[in-house]
Amino acid sequence: MKMYVTLAVLMVLSVYSIAEARVKVTGRGATMNFSAEGIPESYKQIFDLMLVKCIKCHTMERTVIAIQTGKAPITGQPFNKQAVKAYGIKMLRKPNSDMNKKEIRDVVMLLNYLLDESAK
Ligand code: HEC
Repeated sequence: MKMYVTLAVLMVLSVYSIAEARVKVTGRGATMNFSAEGIPESYKQIFDLMLVKCIKCHTMERTVIAIQTGKAPITGQPFNKQAVKAYGIKMLRKPNSDMNKKEIRDVVMLLNYLLDESAK
């Protein structure tokens, strides 16, 4: 019983966080993506980089959902700044990620910014 209550609360919370998310999103499902609208000028270049590099192995939906819900969709782990950094390092180690240290660092910074915006 307690379990169901917890689940219900979690579901309400996750729906709420999507509805309240400040980060603008376009499309749905496999075409879901971050909207360039509202991305500050200083992040535009990294934003464009992310749009190209982060859809090599999976769609952007995964990243959008992680930012919106604060939860990594595959592993179910919290997707916070610590997780973003860990994921960046993990990415660097993937042999075919085709990203260098600076690009990873930049994207990690952008994802942290999006997490902050989404939490507002
Ligand atoms: C080399 C292929 C590859 C690239 C490039 C890639 N990913 Fe992934 N991504 C994966 C795989 C494989 C998974 C499944 C879980 C894992 O291995 O971490 C994943 C999972 C994820 C998840 C869910 C993590 C979880 O724990 O649920 C997020 C969020 C994510 N990727 C974001 C990104 C971002 C942001 C970028 C660009 C910096 C990116 N990915 C680029 C392969 C890739």
